[in-house]
Amino acid sequence: MKPTLELKPLTIGNVSIGFPIVQAALSGYSDLPMRLIARRHGASYTLCEVMLDQFLLSLTKRQKTKHFLDIHPDEPPVGGQLMGAEPEQFSAGAVKLVEAGFNIIDVNFGCPVKKVLGRCRGGFHLSQPPVAIEILRRTREIVRDSIPVTVKMRRGIDDSNQARDSFFEILDGAIDAGLAAVTVHGRTVKQRYNGPSRWNFLSEVKQHVGDRIKILGSGDLFSAADGLRMIQQTGIDGVTIARGAIGNPWIFSQSRALAADAPLPPPPTLGEQADVMREHFSLSEQTYSPERAPMIMRKFYIKYSQNHPEHEIIRAMFTKLRSREEFEAVLDKHYPADRPGRYVPNDLYRAQSE
Ligand SMILES: Cc1cc2nc3c(=O)[nH]c(=O)nc-3n(C[C@H](O)[C@H](O)[C@H](O)COP(=O)(O)O)c2cc1C
Repeated sequence: MKPTLELKPLTIGNVSIGFPIVQAALSGYSDLPMRLIARRHGASYTLCEVMLDQFLLSLTKRQKTKHFLDIHPDEPPVGGQLMGAEPEQFSAGAVKLVEAGFNIIDVNFGCPVKKVLGRCRGGFHLSQPPVAIEILRRTREIVRDSIPVTVKMRRGIDDSNQARDSFFEILDGAIDAGLAAVTVHGRTVKQRYNGPSRWNFLSEVKQHVGDRIKILGSGDLFSAADGLRMIQQTGIDGVTIARGAIGNPWIFSQSRALAADAPLPPPPTLGEQADVMREHFSLSEQTYSPERAPMIMRKFYIKYSQNHPEHEIIRAMFTKLRSREEFEAVLDKHYPADRPGRYVPNDLYRAQSE
């Protein structure tokens, strides 16, 4: 698809993002290595995995988990995302994220995981606008002015009219509290990942807010053309690529090419893919340890295998590997430098989420 609109560079508060197609927060994935690889492939902004306020408050520098707060010098702007139940703890957690060096603080009102909802966190807040707005107010108050505060929401807790009213109440509360942007995932909390993300809802949200706050869209962005199409169809200010970016950082460079009215670049050759996978592995070894990296890299390599013409065979191999040497052996044997790759099929996740 050729874009027929000029993409406006994105700013969030006083942070200049630029290209409005960015990388979403992805628990279990968007760690320093994935974010840095995305940045190197054209993502103008990335978000870390969601962190619990309680976890942040208990964290010490020596702990094994401190990598959650690691930021590479080449990363900024990078967003830190926060989840919690109590307004007071929440804002204390936000301070920790600012101290760690995150450039934007994002509040999570979207997580649909049962355990999270049961503890009144994440998407649960969409059912209690007064508490949700209190969290946004307090977070905005405690974080210094130069750091923008944003929020991620699903389009409601469910499909009821009340859920819709609550969404808009929180949206207006976010504007009043001085937030800089809202990311809207066009699925309900109840829907989890089943069925399509409702893009029409994003148009309604944009019409409702006008220029009072930036709106980023999320949901079903699996190819380079999808992000541009979402901006074009809905009039929103930017989009966050989520599942479509796992094992496919090329989605960002491809999006940039399409936005510049250039042809879609060919899929990365197997040699180019292997280079990026090796780079990702090395970053993971540095971030965690050489011992932990292989198990962490498995899930990424499984996703990278989608770019290989014989993806089913390659995927099956990656699921069993235990050491860097074993991964290297597969790359040496099955990723010859000049062999073309394939585009990740656009319906890969759509099929899984139906
Ligand atoms: C494995 C996984 C982890 C996620 N973790 C987060 C998270 O930590 N914070 C967040 O705001 N959204 C999270 N999301 C939601 C995504 O950012 C995104 O809104 C959602 O996947 C819809 O986009 P998609 O259909 O293009 O994947 C996660 C989604 C997945 C699949």
